[in-house]
Amino acid sequence: MLPDYFEFSLPTRVIYGVGVIDQLRDTVAPYGRRRALLVTDAVLVQAGLAERVRSGFQNTAIEIAATFDQVPPNSTIQTVEDCAGLGREHGCDLIIGLGGGSVLDTAKVANILMVKGGRVQEHMGAYLLGQTKLLPLVLIPTTAGTGSEVTKVAVIADPEHDVKLPFAETQFLPDLAILDPELTRTMPPKLTAATGMDALTHAIEAYVDKEWSPASDGLALQAIRLIRDNLLLACAQPDNLQARGAMLVASCLAGVAFSHSMVGMVHGISHALGGVYHIPHGLANALVLPEVMAYNLESRLDRYADIAEALGVVFPRPGAALGNLLRYGGLSFAVPLVKPLAGLDRWFRRQAAKAGISYIRNLNRQLAHLTGMPLNLRDAGVNDDLAKLEQVADTAMTDGSMLYNPREPERDAVARIVRNLYDTTVTPLPVTPADLRPAGAAVEAREFRNVFPDSETLYRVLGGFFERLKVDPQIGGPLKNSRLCVQFAFENPTATMTIDARGEEVRIYRGAEFVGQPEVTMSMSADFAHAFWHGRVNLISALTRRQVIAKGNVPKTLKLLPILKPAYALYPRYLAEIGMKEAA
Ligand SMILES: [Fe+2]
Repeated sequence: MLPDYFEFSLPTRVIYGVGVIDQLRDTVAPYGRRRALLVTDAVLVQAGLAERVRSGFQNTAIEIAATFDQVPPNSTIQTVEDCAGLGREHGCDLIIGLGGGSVLDTAKVANILMVKGGRVQEHMGAYLLGQTKLLPLVLIPTTAGTGSEVTKVAVIADPEHDVKLPFAETQFLPDLAILDPELTRTMPPKLTAATGMDALTHAIEAYVDKEWSPASDGLALQAIRLIRDNLLLACAQPDNLQARGAMLVASCLAGVAFSHSMVGMVHGISHALGGVYHIPHGLANALVLPEVMAYNLESRLDRYADIAEALGVVFPRPGAALGNLLRYGGLSFAVPLVKPLAGLDRWFRRQAAKAGISYIRNLNRQLAHLTGMPLNLRDAGVNDDLAKLEQVADTAMTDGSMLYNPREPERDAVARIVRNLYDTTVTPLPVTPADLRPAGAAVEAREFRNVFPDSETLYRVLGGFFERLKVDPQIGGPLKNSRLCVQFAFENPTATMTIDARGEEVRIYRGAEFVGQPEVTMSMSADFAHAFWHGRVNLISALTRRQVIAKGNVPKTLKLLPILKPAYALYPRYLAEIGMKEAA
């Protein structure tokens, strides 16, 4: 089944990779020479992440000309105006947002002010910019939840009037979103849990909402699977970059999904809890999510059963299984006999949908066990016996998200849900090793940083290694027979080395010793070369990621493939021999 109408587009280029922040030169080359305004917050500066980003941009044509690091957890009109003022003062013509949702939203709205001027309030609304072009925008999330790096919306607080100002502009979709798990590593477990539940809520609401589409369905279900396998793991093992990366990707996919399908009643209630009781957004979503799933269940039974399956709660379908067996197993005459079992299948689907809700309830309890996440509104800081319950219900009922909920939200239901979340006495649930599923089979790549402090060291180490390749019994022959002249151009430190196998014997040249034209030039960072000779990187994917820039007759280098395996084995042995044990 398809909806009557849907749209789908994502103009943002999204790049993902561990340490990808250090390989930006070619990625940002299309923007040319620019003066960037870096928008971030004090905590991220303290954690060294702003510096990490600054050094990532150092080898690019983008100069970070000013840093605005005063974004609070809930950005305000004043914050945005100060931010845009700083950018204008320094003549910035590109904006980089580094942080969680509040920072990224600030960068988005500051972009309007820098281009159009005026006060923040004048630009509140939806799609007011028309064809106006804003400054190029690069967004780098440091939490895995909001998905703000791929959404057209931003929210800025107006503390004077106690309201949140919503903005929606297509131009908010950044030119580039950089997903680097290393930048989420310092996120505390409690924030990891809350932001992860925000992402899960985005995915689930996108999947059941009125505005669902086949495109957002696919992204939402995959986000749910990634969160299922990685949220507990990321909380339990904050340095697990596979889990961190999966959560970052899940948040991004869920962001794209809900940017198209919108969110629903969970967000309606949690926005109200945020506005009236200042409950953090992710935490409010975590608590409200299973309650609203239960409220919506009958209106989207099949879709909730799909969600349960994506969460790993898979129940049998005996009717379908037996039907397939008979139909394709050559017993088609018996197919009608299975018909009554269709009712059994429907019963199982309903049970699966319900079990999906239990799964979320248990997930919250396990997150509470791992991170101390509150499980009721009392522990979340509501200490007035819900005196403002009516205000919460009124605020929720006027929230735009309510419009997209699959079942008409009733005010009584909202009040009942909030009351239950206040009264509940549910307790944390221990996490077993089986709950911490492995986040994919990939082994975490060992990172190498500044292995060669200067060109001299590089020439000594790699030069010596290439000389060893020449005389190695397994490698020397094929190297000579390749009759190839390949030059390696290194950066950090700068150096060139040339292997010329065209003459009587293979010659190794350092720097300017080589005169002439190599057949192939391979440019890369020196650290990358080190990882390469360790056999830790795949040359083809390195070319795709532009970690290696190859010029010349590249296919001819395939002649060197046979020497790679023995060379990988030789390199760490050689390093140990020359006393570089720690790099081996
Ligand atoms: Fe959200």
